[in-house]
Amino acid sequence: MSEPIVQTEQAAPIVTSTSSNLRTPPRLRSHGLLGSASEMQRDPLKFLRETRRYGDVVRMRFVFSDAYLIYHPDSVKHVLQENNHNYNKDLFTYKLFRPFLGQGLLTNDGESWIHQRRLMQPAFHRKRIAAYSTIMTRATVALMERWQKHAQQDSSLDIAEEMMHLTLGIVGQTLFSIDLSDETNTIGPAVTTMLKLLGNYVYTPFPPISIPTPRNRRLLEANRSLEQVIYHIIAERRQQNKDTGDLLSMLLSARDEDTGEGMNDQQIRDELMTMLIAGHETTANALAWTWYLLSQHAEVEQRLYNEIEEVLGGSIPTLEHLPKLKYTNMVLEEALRLYPPGGIFGRKAIADDELRGFRIPANSMIIISPYATQHHPDYWPDPERFDPERFTPERSAGRSHFAYFPFSSGPRMCIGSSFAMMEAQLILATIAQRYRLFMVPGHPVEPQLLVTLRPKYGLQMTIHER
Ligand code: HEM
Repeated sequence: MSEPIVQTEQAAPIVTSTSSNLRTPPRLRSHGLLGSASEMQRDPLKFLRETRRYGDVVRMRFVFSDAYLIYHPDSVKHVLQENNHNYNKDLFTYKLFRPFLGQGLLTNDGESWIHQRRLMQPAFHRKRIAAYSTIMTRATVALMERWQKHAQQDSSLDIAEEMMHLTLGIVGQTLFSIDLSDETNTIGPAVTTMLKLLGNYVYTPFPPISIPTPRNRRLLEANRSLEQVIYHIIAERRQQNKDTGDLLSMLLSARDEDTGEGMNDQQIRDELMTMLIAGHETTANALAWTWYLLSQHAEVEQRLYNEIEEVLGGSIPTLEHLPKLKYTNMVLEEALRLYPPGGIFGRKAIADDELRGFRIPANSMIIISPYATQHHPDYWPDPERFDPERFTPERSAGRSHFAYFPFSSGPRMCIGSSFAMMEAQLILATIAQRYRLFMVPGHPVEPQLLVTLRPKYGLQMTIHER
């Protein structure tokens, strides 16, 4: 990355109710149409790590907006929690998703978001999602059966892709009770195509989706075919009128407390599409990085196995085992610190505000990055080191809660966080009990931040029976 030029500007006059002696943060100078977005695009992780040396709040031009990249946990807390009413998602980055995710929870805002989140929250309550644990372990056991011949032949597999198939299968079962591994099912391939194209589109949204380039046409086509299947499933379910215990049943039966009204088909379509996209690639990447880290740290891997052996003694894990799998959870937490799948997201400031003594003018974009804050050396000494022990109660004591937020925080925190942690713990414990995974020597491993933080070249690994 070329050295960005930093200017520290004179304090600008303040025009709002925030205190009058605020400073303007150091500014990264950039050239070209996209401003610092081009530099960030080239190597986002390096950009996020290196820009911190200019301060805990750094100002830059980001495409059409003035943007402020924040690092300090206090700023994260202020934006996501304390003053969250002053921040919305009215940003071009979220608008890019709207033709696909519509008014689903991720892209929705304001009153409509509050209404939808209230309707959907009960479906993600710990007790409701507990019923999904057997779907999760059953799918994992089926995957391990398929792995057996690879273990015997010592042939390698792309574990990142395997995790993606697994979590997509689980989301299919838990959302609609549908087996997406069934070859005749078109949802799985359509979601996979859409994710790939969407990642490309969000990073290079030119020409815009309204121009029928081959990529844009393919993306809209994948969206249309997925949408058709989803509408068909909704119609069938409405006709059957029976509760099958999956998320779709819960969405169909959700009623507004005041009006008694349910969701219309369009809103259910948007929520289902959002869950399909937000609900599997993230967890798959968290698991992929965990397998990679374990393959590089034999002592951690051994400790993990010892715990699993002691707690499970050869049985398939259930919900009751999870509180006892403490080290397993710490391993996942540390993988989510080093490689948070939702590595970066944004907000728009509605009115002027103040962050750590700096003036934040209305309409600015705030760039929030779990990756950047979770590598802040003031909170995470030797930040690149994989050390699950960071999450023991003793070492966590006194650390700001906002130094670690892989699922975001505040009212817009990920609705699927408990679902994802339960799923990841069950999958990790089930597989690690039986298999050890090794990287194929020489396979390049490079994190790539597209929509999520994933291994750019996949993870070619061999599987070894214990
Ligand atoms: C390890 C796995 C996961 C990670 C790291 C993760 C991370 C995140 C993050 C950082 C956000 C905030 C995004 C923003 O503000 O722009 C978010 C929101 C969201 N996530 Fe997740 N997520 C995971 C799994 C899931 C799962 C399994 C589901 C659903 C089954 C899900 C559904 C959602 C939804 C619907 C939102 C929007 C919530 C709202 O704004 O009300 N996520 N997630």
